[in-house]
Amino acid sequence: MEDTRLVTPQFREEDGEIDSSLRPRRMDEYIGQTRVKENLQIFIQAARERGEALDHVLLYGPPGLGKTTLAHIVAAELGVQIRITSGPAIERPGDLAAILTNLEDNDVLFIDEVHRLNRAVEEILYPAMEDYALDIIIGKGASARSLRIDLPHFTLIAATTRAGALSAPLRDRFGIINRLDFYSSADLEQIIARAAQILKIKADPDGIATLARRARGTPRIANRLLKRVRDYAQVKADGVITAQVAADALNRLEVDAQGLDRVDRLVLETIIGKFDGGPVGVETLAAATQEAVETIEDVCEPYLMQIGFLQRTPRGRITTRLAWEHLGLIYPKADETNQGTLELS
Ligand SMILES: Nc1ncnc2c1ncn2[C@@H]1O[C@H](COP(=O)(O)OP(=O)(O)O)[C@@H](O)[C@H]1O
Ligand SMILES: [Mg+2]
Repeated sequence: MEDTRLVTPQFREEDGEIDSSLRPRRMDEYIGQTRVKENLQIFIQAARERGEALDHVLLYGPPGLGKTTLAHIVAAELGVQIRITSGPAIERPGDLAAILTNLEDNDVLFIDEVHRLNRAVEEILYPAMEDYALDIIIGKGASARSLRIDLPHFTLIAATTRAGALSAPLRDRFGIINRLDFYSSADLEQIIARAAQILKIKADPDGIATLARRARGTPRIANRLLKRVRDYAQVKADGVITAQVAADALNRLEVDAQGLDRVDRLVLETIIGKFDGGPVGVETLAAATQEAVETIEDVCEPYLMQIGFLQRTPRGRITTRLAWEHLGLIYPKADETNQGTLELS
């Protein structure tokens, strides 16, 4: 089922048209993630100069941060073709073999959600990545023999929201591993200003700053909020997105000052109300909130941890003082620093 949350970083149908017009095409249009960009640019230039395929690249991080966009940009900067697929789309080893044998030298193969590849398919990938070769078994039983077919020298770019779910042999075969981080407000302001210009939306700097602060550090959400607030500005104000217009519109949409929506708040309120602030295991939390474990782990938690509202401990999730205060509650636990002094004396 499609996620209906406004601030979900997951791709939604309505993003289609804005995603393609707003998606940066070249590295210099890709805002933020400076370290990742600089890193990739060096490897891209080196590969180009040698006329070789770029080493395999793994991009990981929460949804909506620009992994797919970056994969396209890398292919464009290399001047090669990109073939796009995803972990769940490749059902049988033969499907992957067909894709691989159809690539040309130096092409990019992009596999989204690579953590969802099944084991049999993944095993085809090992020799393909390491030796640019495909091992196929011909015949059955005693007369079976293995045949090795050479593949074009390609670059695998794989994306995942869960690097931890990758098997070690697969992870070890990537020469370039980059983690995308949540964007700063300053970066998001630039992204929103660029999008507003492309979509011919009038927004003043304070309006842009308000949107940026509530975009959960995520470009996909920033673009989506901009689009929603544009509608509000058009109908309720005189078409210009000011700080006031942005705040009013987002409050109505139940996106709060920190970018949290109903589901984020439900997660926090559940930990606090039903489990005394934690610790609580993710399965229990999923059952109590009626949300999928994957939604909680991939979508809610990374951002709640980033802004210091949630901590993951070996015994489960706990809410922090900041989370209680954000929800207008008094944090009941003794101050950790005071406790320390008491124990000492
Ligand atoms: N660095 C960036 N600069 C500008 N826009 C970006 C950037 N990263 C992502 N975006 C915007 O966010 C949208 C979602 O990015 P996408 O690459 O699909 O994320 P992911 O694959 O990580 O889920 C893109 O269509 C693009 O408009
Ligand atoms: Mg993507």
